[in-house]
Amino acid sequence: MKFFLDTANIEDIKKYAAWGIVDGVTTNPSLIAKEGVDLKTRIMEITEVVDGPISTEVLATDLDGMLTEAREYAAWHKNIYIKLPTTENGLKALSILSKEGIKTNMTLVFNPGQALLVAKAGANLVSPFIGRLDDISEDGMNLIQEIVQIYENYNFDTEVLVASVRHPRHVIDSARIGADVCTMPGAILEKLLHHPLTDQGVEKFLADWEKVKDLQK
Ligand code: E4P
Repeated sequence: MKFFLDTANIEDIKKYAAWGIVDGVTTNPSLIAKEGVDLKTRIMEITEVVDGPISTEVLATDLDGMLTEAREYAAWHKNIYIKLPTTENGLKALSILSKEGIKTNMTLVFNPGQALLVAKAGANLVSPFIGRLDDISEDGMNLIQEIVQIYENYNFDTEVLVASVRHPRHVIDSARIGADVCTMPGAILEKLLHHPLTDQGVEKFLADWEKVKDLQK
């Protein structure tokens, strides 16, 4: 499973890229706004740190506006994936852009029907938002299961990118199901890595070694 970072914070991106497990980055307008930065400047900074898909979302909601923004962003760097909302205009834009060879990530997906449509239209990535479904008492992980099964049935090339991840269990369950990608903030990577028994084990080994270190030749 590929790991993407779901942030526009460049310090976090540098920190976790150094772990050697970051395959890409997803941003959205809220994440860019949180950083208070210029979109292009920040996206270009990210491309310097991570050599993999970097998702950049369009702001337009009309078809022409989406196409104009998408073509502009795609020209910035070879690794840019255009995030389009899964609306009627988003689907139309996807159909046009995929024929132009522009990479796409269809976002704000909340049911398997949306995932089926965007795969047929040639999306490179589909982003089901599982945490936001869990937030309204639906089963986000069940959506991942359904999409993975549908895509396997028809050998779609679209990769399933699990988004709106809230906790490490979402990541583990995504891996068990066989989702292609999971995008998450650094805080979840931290929770995946750290375990109190690991830290206690290291402390104990060091304390025991202290007793014999002077005997070493
Ligand atoms: C994915 O690409 C989105 O940026 C993100 O996962 C949304 O997550 P949220 O529901 O925590 O805002």
